[in-house]
Amino acid sequence: MKREELLGWLREKDPKRLEHLFREADFVRRQHVGDGVHLRGLIEISNHCVRKCAYCGLRICNEGLVRYRMTESEIMGCVYTAWRLGCGTVVLQSGEDPAFTARWIAALVERIKSETPLAVTLSLGERTHADLALWRRAGADRYFLRFETSDRNLYRRIHPPHPDVPGDRIAILRDLKALGYETGSGIMIGIPGQTFDSLADDIELIRDLPIDMVGAGPYLPHPDTPLARSAPCFLAADGEQVPNTETMACKVIALIRLTCPDANIPSTTALATLNPDAGYMSGLSVGANIVMPNLTPPAYRALYAIYPRKTSMHVWAEQAVATVREQIGALGRVVGTGRGDSPRYRPQAA
Ligand code: 5AD
Repeated sequence: MKREELLGWLREKDPKRLEHLFREADFVRRQHVGDGVHLRGLIEISNHCVRKCAYCGLRICNEGLVRYRMTESEIMGCVYTAWRLGCGTVVLQSGEDPAFTARWIAALVERIKSETPLAVTLSLGERTHADLALWRRAGADRYFLRFETSDRNLYRRIHPPHPDVPGDRIAILRDLKALGYETGSGIMIGIPGQTFDSLADDIELIRDLPIDMVGAGPYLPHPDTPLARSAPCFLAADGEQVPNTETMACKVIALIRLTCPDANIPSTTALATLNPDAGYMSGLSVGANIVMPNLTPPAYRALYAIYPRKTSMHVWAEQAVATVREQIGALGRVVGTGRGDSPRYRPQAA
């Protein structure tokens, strides 16, 4: 897809024309990854974070937030629930929590891989090459790290650097690939200061990077963060600012499907949060083929507040998966079997 066409779609407002885009993306999704929707059981293992990302409720400066860190046996309980409920993968996600030492995580991954047939995805933020290499040797299959935006200035404005780590997420993604991980990345849509041009750059970067899965969800303001408090000063010029709406998110998912036909694309929780009635269905009908039901115990889930979540706060894993299965069925799709590896994944020679 040419740059002008991409930009034209990003700016398109006519619902009839958009319907055409969405149908095309759904068609390409069926051709390339089929009707199976893979379930990834999401376990939010800690909400401690040492970073100060300007948009995220887990930032270290958010002192009002009660912090938790799950124990190994709590995590294993959720892993067995994921297996029992038919998820082919568990995703272990947390803030950047140095108390999770590389060896502790490695032992956890080894245990999951030896006791279950599940694929393991880690999403633990920016970690050193040594940590990532150790976890890969321990058996981790995939790693998920969004680059959030390709606009260097915007990135710098919302990501104060970590004192010890260089913080180049693109470099980390290339490193993950070289280590043999199936890699996931992605962006937020509608960040204050994000222009249509930079969003087109994001989609082109996603197309050109060696990534196998792509998560793109709307930016949702968290009231206890600097970005939400000062959003009006950040906004791009009139007509250039990307809105953080459901339609915009659907356009981006559709365009990612068209530019990366083989990728695994989740219908994100942030999108489902914007429109709780449609839930995961809006993303699934415009190109997505993955859903990540949240299996975190409800008491912890309420505290994993990267953005305000008003729904599904008290839902237990069984109910979360049942709802997702219903939504998949209502779309005439089927729950994927097996691990749901990305067809885009080509392991690199070691
Ligand atoms: N709104 C939407 N998405 C957010 N994330 C973090 N904070 C927010 C927010 N306020 C996303 C980031 C991160 C992922 C785990 O959650 O893209 O990579």
